[in-house]
Amino acid sequence: MLLSVLLLLLVCGSRAVHYYGTVTTYYPKEMTTDGSLLVNVRYKLSFVACTANDTWSCTGNCGSETADVELNVVDESPGEWCQREGVMTRLVAGTAPFQLLLEGENWITGIINSIVSWRAVTDAELSFRSDSNQINTSPVTTILPALRIPSNCPRNISLLAFDPDGDEVKCRNGITAAAECNPCTPPSVLNLSSSCTLSFSPTNSSNEGPYAVQLVMEDFPRQNINLLQPDGSLVQKTTNEAISKIPVQFVLKVDPAVPSCSEGVYLPRFLSPTPAHGAQILTSVNQTLEISIRAEAAQSTISGLLFSGPHNVMKNSQALGNFTLTWTPSNVESGESHPICFVVQSSFASSVYQSDLRCVTVKVGTLVPPIVPPSPQTNATTTPPPTSTSDPGPYYVIALNAKISTTLSLENDYNTILQMIKNELTDKGLPQNIILTIRRNGALEMTTAAP
Ligand SMILES: *[C@@H]1O[C@H](CO)[C@@H](O)[C@H](O)[C@H]1NC(C)=O
Ligand SMILES: *[C@@H]1O[C@H](CO)[C@@H](O)[C@H](O)[C@H]1NC(C)=O
Ligand SMILES: *[C@@H]1O[C@H](CO)[C@@H](O)[C@H](O)[C@H]1NC(C)=O
Ligand SMILES: *[C@@H]1O[C@H](CO)[C@@H](O)[C@H](O)[C@H]1NC(C)=O
Ligand SMILES: *[C@@H]1O[C@H](CO)[C@@H](O)[C@H](O)[C@H]1NC(C)=O
Ligand SMILES: *[C@@H]1O[C@H](CO)[C@@H](O)[C@H](O)[C@H]1NC(C)=O
Ligand SMILES: *[C@@H]1O[C@H](CO)[C@@H](O)[C@H](O)[C@H]1NC(C)=O
Repeated sequence: MLLSVLLLLLVCGSRAVHYYGTVTTYYPKEMTTDGSLLVNVRYKLSFVACTANDTWSCTGNCGSETADVELNVVDESPGEWCQREGVMTRLVAGTAPFQLLLEGENWITGIINSIVSWRAVTDAELSFRSDSNQINTSPVTTILPALRIPSNCPRNISLLAFDPDGDEVKCRNGITAAAECNPCTPPSVLNLSSSCTLSFSPTNSSNEGPYAVQLVMEDFPRQNINLLQPDGSLVQKTTNEAISKIPVQFVLKVDPAVPSCSEGVYLPRFLSPTPAHGAQILTSVNQTLEISIRAEAAQSTISGLLFSGPHNVMKNSQALGNFTLTWTPSNVESGESHPICFVVQSSFASSVYQSDLRCVTVKVGTLVPPIVPPSPQTNATTTPPPTSTSDPGPYYVIALNAKISTTLSLENDYNTILQMIKNELTDKGLPQNIILTIRRNGALEMTTAAP
């Protein structure tokens, strides 16, 4: 008796943190004239409490953090979880890669696939790519800290898998031997397809409870590309080689059976005008975007909307089952694509039911056009600056006359030719971040990112 009381005290006294997962995305922002690169890493961190805390450690070309990271609440499921978002801005020297590691104690208790400690890894590849002449961006996704499925219902959970570079996005379970989680034992109740759909088949009550889902999402080029290394050499990435990787970790809760698996009975069903899963929405800086979400359930009561996305997305409920998510992107998000995922919950007696997971990608365009010089044939002196409400900064047009002889064809060897020209120009002292395009008529366009 005394022993069990002591044990209880020990458990209560330990600093259990109760982790509910993470997800990251990185965005290369701009390159300064000295070749330093500003990178934003946006991550979600989910725990039972909004006060719990952990920080990523960095290895590789880490540079320095330009400010302390502030964690801001995205959304809460009261008494269950709290998801927060951090934006880490790193100023790194050049385009060598870095790796981020999150490591700590204690997922929530009772995880059926026996995961205790959390561990997540992000690989940021910052090389210029030969296909776009741009720095690689990671896949864009997010996830709620917990998804619920009744044990007797089949369900496909289709994760958002978007890539701003147009790469193919694939998912796999983390690999213990690669130290991507600690350990990576996947839930026995889920089948994962490489296209990032998790399928759940009806099971019996002995499989009910919470599972830790520890996925790795990667971007693969759709055709072989070269990555320009900091030393000027090229490294090929084939269509079977991942460019970057991000963790997608959350809890799957297999709940007691529901009387009917049909959507709209106990499980909430989305109604128009809820956007379709995977929809891409275009908006602009300072323009308020409103996403209307409607759901119904005949035999249960709609109790709320839960979402994951940028922390300054506002959630409103007009009436039972009528919700809006409102977001006004700022200059910081200009040119970026941001994920928003949501579920609608309902309740009946003491049971809680969730709709399917729905996600959209919001691309933030900008009112300031990127600095794109006209083709070199145009007379520089007569070229008007781009029309814009704000000052786009210095604007230069440089004319270059060159004759290039090659046996390569512009049709088939476009990227190789472009890379060779770029190497030549950067050898002559032009910055690494120049972006080249060869026009049909043979004109060469050169752009640099805004300083
Ligand atoms: C984490 O908590 C520590 C103290 O508990 C605090 O100093 C630090 O600012 C917190 N970090 C974040 C990212 O909130
Ligand atoms: C899940 O996806 C598979 C393959 O596309 C399909 O055959 C099955 O009916 C889907 N299940 C549900 C519950 O939607
Ligand atoms: C996973 O897929 C295999 C083969 O299609 C099937 O036999 C198994 O029941 C599936 N498991 C789950 C949990 O859906
Ligand atoms: C439930 O399923 C598991 C396998 O997933 C099986 O071992 C067990 O016997 C089943 N229990 C019942 C009560 O059917
Ligand atoms: C957006 O609004 C902020 C603050 O009002 C302003 O500083 C910024 O220039 C605006 N950006 C654009 C692209 O309109
Ligand atoms: C929800 O919004 C729809 C239109 O989008 C409206 O027809 C409906 O009456 C609203 N429901 C409630 C309960 O206000
Ligand atoms: C460029 O300038 C020359 C002489 O000033 C003029 O003849 C020609 O038409 C101009 N070309 C364009 C595209 O404006």
